[in-house]
Amino acid sequence: MADEENPLSEGLERLPVHPTVLVIFGGTGDLARRKLVPALYNLAADGALPERFQLVGVSRSELPDTEFREQATAAVKEFSRREPDEKVLDALLAEARYISGSFDDETMYPRLKQALEDYDESAGQPLNRAFYLSTAPEFFPLIVEALGEHGLTEREGAEVRVIIEKPFGTTLAEAQSLNKTVLSVLDESQVFRIDHYLGKETVQNMLAFRFANGMFEPLWNRNFIDNVQITSAEDIGIGSRAGYYDNAGALRDLMQNHMMQLLCLLAMEPPVDFSADEVRSEKVKVLHAISPPEPESTIRAQYAPGIVTGEEAAGYLGEDGVRDDSNTETFAAMRLNVENWRWAGVPFYLRTGKRLSRKVTEIAVTLKPVPHQSFNQGGSVGVQPNQLIFTVQPNEGVTLKLGAKIPGTRMRVRGVNMEFLYGTTFLSQSPEAYEKLIMDAMRGDATLFTRNDEVEAQWRIMDPVVSRWTEQPGPLPQYEAGSSGPSEVDAIMVDGDEWRAI
Ligand code: BG6
Repeated sequence: MADEENPLSEGLERLPVHPTVLVIFGGTGDLARRKLVPALYNLAADGALPERFQLVGVSRSELPDTEFREQATAAVKEFSRREPDEKVLDALLAEARYISGSFDDETMYPRLKQALEDYDESAGQPLNRAFYLSTAPEFFPLIVEALGEHGLTEREGAEVRVIIEKPFGTTLAEAQSLNKTVLSVLDESQVFRIDHYLGKETVQNMLAFRFANGMFEPLWNRNFIDNVQITSAEDIGIGSRAGYYDNAGALRDLMQNHMMQLLCLLAMEPPVDFSADEVRSEKVKVLHAISPPEPESTIRAQYAPGIVTGEEAAGYLGEDGVRDDSNTETFAAMRLNVENWRWAGVPFYLRTGKRLSRKVTEIAVTLKPVPHQSFNQGGSVGVQPNQLIFTVQPNEGVTLKLGAKIPGTRMRVRGVNMEFLYGTTFLSQSPEAYEKLIMDAMRGDATLFTRNDEVEAQWRIMDPVVSRWTEQPGPLPQYEAGSSGPSEVDAIMVDGDEWRAI
């Protein structure tokens, strides 16, 4: 792939894109309102969308086009990361269309097809088609099959692509069956499975850090690295998502996908180049080196009532829509081993939870301690192993923890930080993950999307844990909302390792 086409090596604004129509199934839904439509606005404001860009929303409710445009305008005003410019917003939505119908309604697809053909006709050329499946997951196979049956998966002179939201299956068997359906209708090169963490700047920066600097890679192995900790803590609860979350839980919601992706990027071998298949093949190799964790390497828990950011918060079992005897976990942690030449013997600790004391996503790499303490007893007190910490959010950046002498006549050492912060270095706001991902999908670049074998390899690791946890009845260990999680989580640490404070 030519360097100027590489999604990891350039900004959004210069990317050339063929004229495109984006069809959002679930166009009036929560994700579309909060993320997708605002992302489209920000791309438009950056001049990154193709000159000819059209939006179609598909949902069940009966709405005229004008009402869909108004709802989309309101969504941008509420959720855009920038104050919208009315002119840009009006131009973006001027010709947006809305198709109403349930996804199993056979009459809806011909109406959609007609709308797409109308756009082609007025453009005087076939537009690329990107179908974004932002619906409940049970509709994914149905919509894909219907697109195939109605001749919507191919268009002469244009590309057709399908973007599929998470969750991609809730078990290995479901993921395999969904892949089978999807690939019976589409070619893998047309499929873009979303994991929005891959669109985050700091996540992509892990690759830049590792492979654009000579100084880290020689240390990046079992000889120098003691352990790796990946944390994805949230202070929010489940909000109004009980219907989804109570059937999902922390492991399926965040660990099987987002956190495994972070692990892969940290542990993978340098790819030959940054093309979609080279990068994804390296990630799959990491997943193949991980066995499903044994019961003693995993823990789960649920939040109890508590105080979060100064306000009283209900416990999980008290949330609206959660079953009284639910044994769905809102906190999950595990220890994994990457059984290959580079990582044998290095524990990878993962933890995620809702209603913790703060929002933080970070990857902390702890190096081995120095082989010999040269300082006298008093001077050695502050000597800690070096740590390299990638903070994905908030305060995106990278911190290197070093030991340094405290000024004074005595030789005393203390930990200090060397920091790179995105905000202060680049003085600009990072684009939202969805901006990057929508753009890449419209350009046909799948580097930051999950491949079929990759998603199945992720499930192969997590599936046994999911079944074990589903079978074991509650009650689960509890942790107070607003705390740093259950104390039971220490039990999965080995060799005296300790969790970083949340
Ligand atoms: C989503 C999960 O995939 O990621 C949510 O379904 C979670 O439960 C969210 O809150 C976290 O994403 P972010 O970008 O806020 O870290």
